[in-house]
Order: sequence, then structure tokens, then C-alpha cells
Amino acid sequence: MKSLLSAVALAGLSEAALRFGCFKHQNGSYQQVPIMANDALPPGIQGGMTIYYTQQDFFSNGNQKITSFPKGFRMTAGKVTATSKYSKGLKFVCLQNKSTRFPELDEFPTQKCVGGIMTVHHFPACWDGKNIDSPDHQSHMYDTINDAFVNAGACPASHPVRVPQVAYETLWDTAKFNNMPWPTDGSQPFVLSYGDKKGFGTHADYMFGWKGDALQRAMDSSCMFNACENGRPLKSQQPAQMNACKVKSSVDEKLDGWLSELPGMGM
Ligand SMILES: *[C@@H]1O[C@H](CO)[C@@H](O)[C@H](O)[C@H]1NC(C)=O
Ligand SMILES: *[C@@H]1O[C@H](CO)[C@@H](O)[C@H](O)[C@H]1NC(C)=O
Repeated sequence: MKSLLSAVALAGLSEAALRFGCFKHQNGSYQQVPIMANDALPPGIQGGMTIYYTQQDFFSNGNQKITSFPKGFRMTAGKVTATSKYSKGLKFVCLQNKSTRFPELDEFPTQKCVGGIMTVHHFPACWDGKNIDSPDHQSHMYDTINDAFVNAGACPASHPVRVPQVAYETLWDTAKFNNMPWPTDGSQPFVLSYGDKKGFGTHADYMFGWKGDALQRAMDSSCMFNACENGRPLKSQQPAQMNACKVKSSVDEKLDGWLSELPGMGM
């Protein structure tokens, strides 16, 4: 059987904003947790996220029409202020290795994960067909997510247009902190930079950025994963080109080394 991650889904141009993850040391200082490359992607890629656009699931493209997002389209998943489970699509995986995909958890694992921790953001798959954005960046979409990487159900009349199911995977190299002293009260030491120790406030932004009708052509094609490359119908970049395509950091705070406060807390 094909391992879920032996196959890369279509990774296109898009933009995501993820907050920094930190390890809280017993003396109260923080260190940033680096992200690492997924093993589904070609070797040599430095960090980054893996972005999936699935028509149905990992095993079939199905046969329903999937409509590409239009130019200028945006949406978000999750809410930074959430203190309980916000959406079915926001998940965490305690990695044994980079191919671990189950079980998916609703909050940060509390045990030490030898392969790190993966954050998964599944976006909604039904669009109202009219608005490329909305004031809360979410109400133009309808969340049909059944479960991780499971086909979205039928779209409701209010949001009738079935769009690609977008999912982000981010792998955090938390394992490098497993030999440091951990809290003795059974809690886990990782915290998102806005002070979230549970992960309920995890969130992601999506901005459509595919060239021309490339995404629509991919959705109309029966190709899956790497078989979509080499002009059938997409072109892919080599790792060196991918690594060179970086967004300049817009963070104006110190992030390396020992931090006395969480970055982004306005202190
Ligand atoms: C915690 O320990 C590190 C390493 O010794 C040190 O750099 C940092 O300043 C300490 N933090 C506090 C709050 O004492
Ligand atoms: C990775 O971990 C999974 C369990 O999450 C296990 O089934 C699989 O065999 C492991 N793969 C390797 C290469 O060790």
C-alpha cells in the first residue's frame, strides 16, 4: 500500500502566516522551535510547509467538478483567540518519524514525540461563488471538513461551489528539546508565540497565487501527485529554486537564542 506521504500533492504558490512556536525552559526563558522539511518533498528543501490541493482524497481524484479559486481569493482557517476546539480541520500529530500521520489530535500532544510535532490546517472546501473574501475571511466559505484528508461532503446551497481541499502541513523539530528538563506537572513545554499552550488558536491564511488557469488545469486533470509534473499539466521547480523563493521576514524582534519574552506579545 502506498504510504500517504510517498506522494506529494500539488504545491502551488500561496502564502501562509504561521506564528512561531517556542519551547519554554524551566528557568522561564524561551527558545524558538525550528521547522523542518517534509519527507514527501524532494531532498534539499529547507523547511517550509507542504501544501496539498486534493480533489477527493489521497487515493482518487473522484469525478466531481472542482473549481479553482479566482484571482484575489483569500481565506483563513482557525482563530488566534480560540480557547477550545475551533474547527475540525485543525490538527496535531505526534510524529514517530516524518511519515507518521495518525492519530490526529485536537491539541498539542503532551508526551515527548521522537520525530517532532506536525501541525495540520485543513481549509474549507465550499465557496459562496461570489465573494473573494469576507470581513472575517471565513464566512464566504462553508466548512464541510469530514476528517483529515477525507473527501468533503456535498456543498450546501449557500456555498455551492466545490473548490480544492487545501491543507498545510508544518513539521516542528520539537525533538531537539526532548533531552532538556520538562515540566514536572505533566504539562507539555511548547507554546505558540501568542501564549497558547494547547494549540486551539492555531490558524493559517491562504492567498491564491497560481499563474493563469494553472490550478484549474490541474484540478481538471486526472493526474495525481508527482505525475502532474513535467507539463502534465504542471511544471515543477528544483529545490534550489524553491529555497531561493523566500519571503523576507517582517518580524522586527529578536528570535534567535534565549528569549526572555515570547515574540509578538507586544512587550
Ligand atoms: C535560562 O538559562 C539560559 C542558559 O543558561 C540563560 O541564557 C537565560 O538567561 C536563563 N533565563 C533566566 C530567566 O534566567
Ligand atoms: C514511521 O512511523 C509509523 C508510525 O507512526 C510507522 O508505522 C512506520 O513504520 C515508521 N516508518 C519508518 C520508516 O520507521
